[in-house]
Amino acid sequence: MTAVSQPGLSDSLTPALMRLLFGFQATQIATTLVRLRIDDALAGGSRSVAELAEAVGASGDGLGRLLRAAATLRLVREPARDCFELTELGTGLHANRDLAGFLGGVLYLVHSRLSDAVVSGQPVSRDVLGAPLWEYLSSRPDEQADFHRGMAASARAQTGAIVQTIDLSRFRRIVDVGGGRGKNLSAMLRAAPQANGVLFDQQQVIAGAGELFAAEGLNERVELVEGSFLESVPTGGDLYVLKGVVLNWDDEGARLILRRCAEAAPEGATLLLVESVLPESRESSFLDLFMLVALGGRQRTVKEHQALLHDTGWQFDSVHEVPQPLYVGSLMLMEAHRTANT
Ligand SMILES: C[S@@+](CC[C@H](N)C(=O)[O-])C[C@H]1O[C@@H](n2cnc3c(N)ncnc32)[C@H](O)[C@@H]1O
Repeated sequence: MTAVSQPGLSDSLTPALMRLLFGFQATQIATTLVRLRIDDALAGGSRSVAELAEAVGASGDGLGRLLRAAATLRLVREPARDCFELTELGTGLHANRDLAGFLGGVLYLVHSRLSDAVVSGQPVSRDVLGAPLWEYLSSRPDEQADFHRGMAASARAQTGAIVQTIDLSRFRRIVDVGGGRGKNLSAMLRAAPQANGVLFDQQQVIAGAGELFAAEGLNERVELVEGSFLESVPTGGDLYVLKGVVLNWDDEGARLILRRCAEAAPEGATLLLVESVLPESRESSFLDLFMLVALGGRQRTVKEHQALLHDTGWQFDSVHEVPQPLYVGSLMLMEAHRTANT
């Protein structure tokens, strides 16, 4: 057979460009392997399409087509006809399955309207989901659980860095503000046996938070408090933690949350701000765009955080940088203390 040139396809339509344009499918192929638990079913070794279809409750035809597409992404391979196994990349996906469920769900949906967010400078969650992101998740327990599992998976390294970098032996009452389902607070309390903790978040998030503390034998040391940090924050902490929260908000929202923490904190109390920050060069980061489209928040430089702290009753003290994987900017642990006057 002789290859013929295809007049419609220009030389500039390279495989790299095609892979990029088909990226929407790559995300969904990986997410589907996780969502249908095909990665779990393959974790023990290779299986035929028929066995897998039975195990995960899918059509043999659809599953075979999915797996062949996944093989082109090198997530699985087909050692014998109609028989598949995980590759090294697929094994990595399996080990990070909570992150895949998180990125390929609601966050994927809002990115379908990225162009609208760029034109308006506003998030599109209300248009795409029918409600702002936190409100939408509050009414969907399964998606909310996926979201918090994903947050916990992406934050594992950050929590490790906090307990290794910050001297927690100084604190007696740690208040994790917008602390999600408590993964970070539980690690901090394990590292600070003298301290008690308060987990503060929205009602539906707190409702699902008790299990982790019970499983870790920490419920005697933890108070679960529901509410909105736009209104008030639990009082009397000597350490307030805001991790991955400030970047979810525009400057007005960020200032309000920092001020609410300052109102609750006694003079001299410490604030630990844990954020993925932009370098001063403002080199681009995927996370910044993600904040725009999903929440109307923004990533900031350290200087911009210092200005927010200064305006809201906090004196900036120090910053520690922790290396992070690609895409999200450097992780900074910024410490401040509550000044005498707000
Ligand atoms: C990006 S997540 C960060 C969670 C956690 N700190 C972490 O790093 O894994 C932001 C958190 O803010 C919470 N949140 C959003 N709006 C809130 C509000 N008005 N009051 C209290 N918490 C809120 C969300 O429920 C979510 O748990």
